[in-house]
Amino acid sequence: MATIVPLANVDSALIEALLDRAFGPDRHARTAYRIREGMDWLPALSFAAVDDDGYLVGTIQLWPAALTDPEGRAHPMIMVGPVAVVPERQSEGFGKALMLAALGALEPGALPQVMIGDPEYYGRFFGFTAAPTGGWHCPGPFEPARLLVRCDNPSILPAKGMLGPWPETLAN
Ligand SMILES: CC(C)(COP(=O)(O)OP(=O)(O)OC[C@H]1O[C@@H](n2cnc3c(N)ncnc32)[C@H](O)[C@@H]1OP(=O)(O)O)[C@@H](O)C(=O)NCCC(=O)NCCS
Repeated sequence: MATIVPLANVDSALIEALLDRAFGPDRHARTAYRIREGMDWLPALSFAAVDDDGYLVGTIQLWPAALTDPEGRAHPMIMVGPVAVVPERQSEGFGKALMLAALGALEPGALPQVMIGDPEYYGRFFGFTAAPTGGWHCPGPFEPARLLVRCDNPSILPAKGMLGPWPETLAN
């Protein structure tokens, strides 16, 4: 059984150690890190999973991001991830519990949620799809089939654009 707590309650050194174990220590070179460069994760939408013995077994972080269209307009979005469960506790339901906590914390009509992840997992369980992202670019290498979005009304999504940090936040 997972207990889900706000990520802000967890020591940041423990979070970083868990992410190193789930993704490897070279994780900072990933394109997802470049998309959210300079941003802080959103405390109201980021969570940790703790097992029955009180051990930290998983984390999820959501971030401010934007898709800048060819006319230079920035469309705000929420970037989901990393979603991480320690290797020896995967496939016990912690990942789903973390995703449900984060998506459940979104307001109705929330900004579109974007992520780089396995469509077999995030599509099957949570409604993410790569269908609207064919004309989107990232500031680094990525597999197009893994650039996923979830949105109440996909018709509002720009057909083309470049993902990056949320400029409003950078300006503050
Ligand atoms: C991907 C991840 C978050 C899933 O969390 P989890 O706690 O292991 O998975 P859950 O217990 O919630 O879900 C288990 C189900 O999802 C499936 N599943 C798990 N990871 C999957 C993946 N990468 N692709 C497809 N299906 C996957 C399992 O087969 C299982 O299916 P079943 O219910 O039919 O048996 C976790 O495995 C992980 O941290 N992996 C390494 C880091 C990573 O790749 N993160 C995602 C990118 S942000």
